[in-house]
Amino acid sequence: MKRILVLHGPNLNLLGEREPDVYGTLSLSQLNRVVSEHGKSLKIVIMTAQSNSEGELIDILHRVRKKVDAVVFNPGAYTHYSYALRDAVSAIQIPVVEVHLSDIKKREPFRRISVIAPVCLAQISGYGALSYVKAIDKLSRLSAPSKGSKRGRK
Ligand code: DQA
Repeated sequence: MKRILVLHGPNLNLLGEREPDVYGTLSLSQLNRVVSEHGKSLKIVIMTAQSNSEGELIDILHRVRKKVDAVVFNPGAYTHYSYALRDAVSAIQIPVVEVHLSDIKKREPFRRISVIAPVCLAQISGYGALSYVKAIDKLSRLSAPSKGSKRGRK
């Protein structure tokens, strides 16, 4: 595992000022610094991107599919209903770990469902910035990522 894209979805550009009681006080650039430093300690290059647009997130996944070894993806609210993002994750060969800052299983009923998790290697939720760190750790332990290493693929 040499290169990982950390991809943030909608409204995560407002981290730090957006509902800090739920999402914490780190800004997006501070969070990106935490994950980049963690990657460096594992000799993994971390690239980061954020978009509020479903189509752009799909384009980014398509664009990086042969340039990085894995993706850590926080799809924000798209988690709960975007079949287009699910299809994009399913379409690419590299492993994707879905992450959330908050514990989506303990929040409103609509947040408890992820339509994307079944085509991801794993879902890690509820640890704040540590969710991303844990996802990078998990991916760093994979030796030869392949389509077969993805979970579900229903
Ligand atoms: C989130 C959880 C989603 O339900 C929400 O829409 C977000 C952030 C999280 O990281 O906890 O935007 O993905």
